[in-house]
Amino acid sequence: MSIEKENIATAETNEEGAKVDNNQFADFDDEAEFLKEEKEREEKIEQDKLLPPDPDVILEVRHLKKYFTLKKTLLGKPLSSLKAVDDVSFKVKKGETLGIVGESGCGKTTMGRTVLKLYQPTSGQVFFKGKDIAGYKSKEMRALRKQMQIVFQDPYSSLPPRSTVGDLLSEPVKVHNVVPKSKVKDYVLDLMDQCGLRDYYYERYPHEFSGGQRQRICIARALSVNPELVVCDEPVSALDVSIQAQIINLLKRLQKERQLTYIFISHDLSVVKFISDKIGIMYLGSMMEFGNKKEIFDNPMHPYTKALFSAVPNPDPTEKTERIILKGDIPSPANPPKGCKFHTRCNCAMEICKHIAPEYKEYEEGHFVACHYCEQNH
Ligand SMILES: Nc1ncnc2c1ncn2[C@@H]1O[C@H](COP(=O)(O)OP(=O)(O)O)[C@@H](O)[C@H]1O
Ligand code: SF4
Ligand SMILES: [Mg+2]
Repeated sequence: MSIEKENIATAETNEEGAKVDNNQFADFDDEAEFLKEEKEREEKIEQDKLLPPDPDVILEVRHLKKYFTLKKTLLGKPLSSLKAVDDVSFKVKKGETLGIVGESGCGKTTMGRTVLKLYQPTSGQVFFKGKDIAGYKSKEMRALRKQMQIVFQDPYSSLPPRSTVGDLLSEPVKVHNVVPKSKVKDYVLDLMDQCGLRDYYYERYPHEFSGGQRQRICIARALSVNPELVVCDEPVSALDVSIQAQIINLLKRLQKERQLTYIFISHDLSVVKFISDKIGIMYLGSMMEFGNKKEIFDNPMHPYTKALFSAVPNPDPTEKTERIILKGDIPSPANPPKGCKFHTRCNCAMEICKHIAPEYKEYEEGHFVACHYCEQNH
């Protein structure tokens, strides 16, 4: 179905045929309702804080928020903030890949960095191997740092230009005492071999290599300290399509060999589909839908997920898929729409969506969706 209509459906039924009662919102006090919702959400967060961490997962993120302060008063109090990550919750098991999808600016990078504590969370809990690290100070994090690593999007700027490949792979091994000093070179050469890098690269400099080889060096660097969790932030987006598959296959093989857990961030659904076990769809800092890959691809529920999927070309020419065109631009996360953040672009939007934020609810086991339309039509 096309979403080219300018206005949100306000008749008795919306475009998808859901019943809409607009009168009930005629005297609606948005501000009062917002405060009431906020209070209820805070109460739920306080209640959830009391729950023990899930022992079956390596990473459990609860109600994570990361706000960037945009304006301060003269006394340094925040006046306005940008909610880059706004109450995000999910779990990942050891050895799994969680794919995070969403348009540019929806908070994927900020979420990944906040989970790794490269950004201090504004609030929320981050249980890594059963311990809440959200409040850990840098000294406590130092011990954990080698267990949590990141691979960046741009392999050109993320490697120091004046170090040889051997030096830049040896440095973290020495800093974290991964092996005795006398064994560092052998360890690094073995690691290079595992990452598809020839041994004579050891004496060479990063600028001598192509993007794909550089990304292999970045992956080797991240893995040099034997991490358990790796955030891969758009690791193939800057590479030629022909190289992308090689790097994805390398990441997959290394994951299997080392029992790695990945958070794999991408705006490319086909890449995410290939590598992920679970998928989270983000929009304006919020998780719109989350679930197992099969469930998300076979049974997408959220209108935003459906729109994203409809934009992926179908390789089967006999199967007709109708493209859902999202109207308008992404609103600013500094001033997101009230109610459901997606309502300004949604083809299923009802009057309630403009006023009340939908609850993030579990519909099937492990399949979460935040949407009034799903709630009314499930
Ligand atoms: N250090 C920062 N200070 C202020 N705003 C930021 C900062 N980093 C990111 N943002 C803003 O947060 C939002 C989410 O950004 P980001 O996490 O980079 O999104 P994505 O990775 O999905 O493209 C964007 O609006 C971006 O401009
Ligand atoms: S809650 Fe949001 S996503 Fe769901 S129908 Fe309303 S506007 Fe669309
Ligand atoms: Mg990003």
